[in-house]
Amino acid sequence: MGDSMQIPNYEKARVRSKDKVLFRNFKMLDEYLNIGIDKKFFLKTYGCQMNEHDSENLKGMLKLMNFQETEDMNDADFILLNTCSIRENAHNKAFGMLGRIKHLKEKNPNIIVALCGCMAQEVGVVEEIRKKYKFVNFVFGTHNLDDLPKLLKNSFNDSKQNIEVKSIEGDVIEDIPVKRDNPYKAYVNIIYGCDKFCTYCIVPYTRGKQRSRKKEDIINEVKELVHDGYQEVTLLGQNVNAYGKDLYDNYSLAELLEDISKTNIPRIRFITSHPWDFTDKMVEVIRNHDNILNFVHLPVQSGSSRILKLMGRKYTKESYLELYDKLRSIDNISITTDIIVGFPGETDEDFKETLDLVNYCKFDSAFTFIYSPRENTPASKLKDDITLKEKEERLYELNELINKYSKESNDKMLNNTYSVLIEGESTKEGMLFGYTETNKLVNVKGTIDNIGKIVNVKITDAKSFSLDGEIVE
Ligand code: SAH
Ligand code: SF4
Ligand code: F3S
Repeated sequence: MGDSMQIPNYEKARVRSKDKVLFRNFKMLDEYLNIGIDKKFFLKTYGCQMNEHDSENLKGMLKLMNFQETEDMNDADFILLNTCSIRENAHNKAFGMLGRIKHLKEKNPNIIVALCGCMAQEVGVVEEIRKKYKFVNFVFGTHNLDDLPKLLKNSFNDSKQNIEVKSIEGDVIEDIPVKRDNPYKAYVNIIYGCDKFCTYCIVPYTRGKQRSRKKEDIINEVKELVHDGYQEVTLLGQNVNAYGKDLYDNYSLAELLEDISKTNIPRIRFITSHPWDFTDKMVEVIRNHDNILNFVHLPVQSGSSRILKLMGRKYTKESYLELYDKLRSIDNISITTDIIVGFPGETDEDFKETLDLVNYCKFDSAFTFIYSPRENTPASKLKDDITLKEKEERLYELNELINKYSKESNDKMLNNTYSVLIEGESTKEGMLFGYTETNKLVNVKGTIDNIGKIVNVKITDAKSFSLDGEIVE
């Protein structure tokens, strides 16, 4: 095993060539089909929706290999961590988990332990695993999810640690089995990787080059989901607005959305949109199709054009606001964002510009983060002289403002009726929960026969992070 070891390499991970993307189809070999018999797996997922969906593929393969899933790590024969690199915090969680698994393995050396996902693509992480976490049986990356069956089989025969991470631009692999977590809402990948190279971000190194799936493959997947009774699809990509650029001359996200709209799936969402590639045609497509939901996640990151430039975001505060205003002209649209505070060199004035932008946009909600330096990224080499205390104060001030506008946006919904996809029982007795078209969480009084249905709900109470309502005819 040791001989075939492949460790990550940032030089190779950074390459973006004009080479055609390789499209290939997954096949499960017969020899892997029985290795899971009488065995259980525990899978823990960190990170974004793309990683969650990768986990649905990992589960799909494991089920096909006849493994059963367990929610109890102590009960598992195979423990797999699908990890995220986006901030230090995500790292710490995964390493904390490895610490716990070490104890388990001391008691039961037969447990197989593996790590995959974005952290597997990091040079420093793999070094640390090789030195300090020798009990980890194998590591594989984001480019070779489909190697799981092979690696798992090998690990039962060979106790040596096996690292198989590819630092390549990446392929598109179709037909990996999938076991979806939610029977009503489905994630559908439309584009992998990212070519934006924002200076703070590790994703272009962990996920490879921007590469679109073929439109037929996407549309067929959605048609099957409709056939299986799904009510909602979320189209996934680090930058869905770049869809098609690498594959077609005249077919972009706008055309894809129109084609998916024709499948009559009741609800279509898409995340994430980079403001750079957002065309006017896209705005009109959202405006003109009922099943393309009026919901856009449009990360701004900062309200200061100076900081945006340092971040490599390739838009200014002004051009962001111009796009924002166009989108806001769509009736009842909900717009959310991501903001980073404490980017190296962010002054009080820069931060004030972010607050001003929030005051102007009045986002429906936002994810806010303290800047976290990432290994090998250009921003991690910039001088960062803002203290953690200052960064925490900025985050606090920003969150207060964000929460105020979330509450305001929810208050506007009081006493009005909205369609809600009911997903399940809420933790509160006699209550269900679901999401509006604008992705707001609603706790709904109602009976369980409504689960999986889109119903009309009158909003009776509004809080910062959720709404209460009751079903009306
Ligand atoms: N592709 C998406 C975002 C993916 S990462 C986009 O470009 O909009 C999700 C969010 O994590 C980002 O929008 C950013 O706000 C945050 N993020 C990314 N790298 C970060 C870092 N090094 N420190 C803090 N936050 C970061
Ligand atoms: Fe990261 Fe920027 Fe790509 Fe988003 S667009 S994944 S923030 S590099
Ligand atoms: Fe994290 Fe990788 Fe997603 S770094 S946010 S899991 S693309």
